[in-house]
Amino acid sequence: MNYIDEVGLTHKTILLRVDFNVSLNPNHSIADDARIKQSVETIEYLLKHHNKLILMAHLGDPEKRSASDSLSPVAKRLHQYLPHHKIILVEDFQKDDSQIKNQKEDEIIMLENIRFYPGEKSNDPAFTKQLASYGEVYVNDGFSVSHRESVSVVGLPKVLPAYGGLLMKREVVILDKIMKHPKKPFVAIIGGKKISTKIKVIKKLTSVADYVLLGGGLANTFLAAQGLKTGKSLVSDEDVALARELLAHAKKENTNLVIPQDVIVGRDLDSTESEVRKVEEMKATDLALDIGPETQADFGAIINEARTIVWNGPVGYMENQEFKRGTDFLYYAITQNDEAISVVGGGDTLSAISKKEYLDQLTHISTGGGAMLEFIENGTLPGIEALK
Ligand code: 3PG
Repeated sequence: MNYIDEVGLTHKTILLRVDFNVSLNPNHSIADDARIKQSVETIEYLLKHHNKLILMAHLGDPEKRSASDSLSPVAKRLHQYLPHHKIILVEDFQKDDSQIKNQKEDEIIMLENIRFYPGEKSNDPAFTKQLASYGEVYVNDGFSVSHRESVSVVGLPKVLPAYGGLLMKREVVILDKIMKHPKKPFVAIIGGKKISTKIKVIKKLTSVADYVLLGGGLANTFLAAQGLKTGKSLVSDEDVALARELLAHAKKENTNLVIPQDVIVGRDLDSTESEVRKVEEMKATDLALDIGPETQADFGAIINEARTIVWNGPVGYMENQEFKRGTDFLYYAITQNDEAISVVGGGDTLSAISKKEYLDQLTHISTGGGAMLEFIENGTLPGIEALK
């Protein structure tokens, strides 16, 4: 696989896949623009080398064209980062492609939400052909969408010369390095609500890491797997057996799968009061919503010794201030360890830390959520394979 800084692309019309699937506030303003910001380097690089750009991105997962899923706020934000370039949002190129055909060199074309076209997600060859006709080269800078087998990710690179962008390169190089040659001890921290989306990655990590620290809603299923009472806490009953298997698998692999020994409980999600509870002492009315102080100390000591750290998923219910201390603690523990390579990813994790100090102490903030987990699991992604 080649990246754009290795091949000397110049004077080409490039179809550039970016992932601008940013989180929006209820009034449709952008809540966090990290994904836009992180692709600016690739866009500037390609423009500097006199290429014309046609950007393809999605926002949300619309079933049909709708104003609320328009990329318009994204185009405006991108313009703030690239004030010298006009950004033309093409509403529906299937109806009118004159703006694409008349594109000037310093203009950037952005196609309206690529998921407005049903052919995108079904990876339709006719849609691939239609899109491909507008460009000479395809570049993928959307690492975080590269687990999706759609036209703009896997279809186009089959029919056009295809390269990885600079953000793609940063993501792949670091994740590849820590998974193939991690400095030891390798500590993985996996949090989040649902266990179902993390089972495979936990299994993979128990084979390669020295420690896998579990927190958040998904840890409750592991508590239940150990026969503990979890009160009203979120437990995925259908995954209890799987959690038990993972505990046994970790033992076999000699990996420390560390689950909380104490938790912060509330009565409900909106509780303004909380209590510390040992996991053996949970009451029927308890709802576990964060890791407790002993668990913090335990996780903190392990993180302190780590030389490689991967973190995905908050360990508490971040929506309520009362239950975000554990996640904040982990963030500070990771940033205080300046000898470790640290990689943090996942939408919820990034919103938890995005406004914090010391962000530059992290080695890499991945734009990938599902994509990062799938890359850790499989060492590649469909969109990366398609570039090869
Ligand atoms: C993401 O936000 O993880 C990517 O943009 C992929 O989006 P999707 O889950 O809607 O396919």
